[in-house]
Amino acid sequence: MKLLNLNISFEQYAGLNELNTKDKLLCENAELALKGSYSPYSKFRVGTAIRLASGETILGSNQENLAYPSGLCAERVALFSIGSNQPNAIIESMAITAQTDHFQITKPVTSCGGCLQVMAEFERKQTTPIEVIFYCLNGEILKVPSVKSLLPFSFVEDRLER
Ligand code: THU
Repeated sequence: MKLLNLNISFEQYAGLNELNTKDKLLCENAELALKGSYSPYSKFRVGTAIRLASGETILGSNQENLAYPSGLCAERVALFSIGSNQPNAIIESMAITAQTDHFQITKPVTSCGGCLQVMAEFERKQTTPIEVIFYCLNGEILKVPSVKSLLPFSFVEDRLER
């Protein structure tokens, strides 16, 4: 038996003003994306903003449905929109934030496993890392250098090959 360890490094910021200009703008756009959230069932709004290498920013928000599993997380709404409209786009960075009327969110909300798996595939496809920024409105911000850091054991396509 061998015991192996994986370490991940990420940055922690006290607030928006500590971020560089591009990342601050991306977080502000993620906050803007919250406005599009359709979340009458959870009342939990999630917004994401994705910065492409072209400089363009794509927004996404969670979209729920009365048939609960038919809804989709903000991250996947934005990523699949890029996948279908700009399949060759290179993603530099994505910022994610959340808000609810029920309580004050005091820590950054991190992405679910399903979203991480989709983010991992976008990263593998483009071969350059995608930065992920988890932005707590009026709170701390975490910046992770790549999706691989968040999901080191993602399901990869060579599992489907002989
Ligand atoms: N949600 C996201 O948009 N992203 C995640 O990574 C996790 C959860 C949404 C799904 C649902 O609309 C609401 O948050 C509550 O789970």
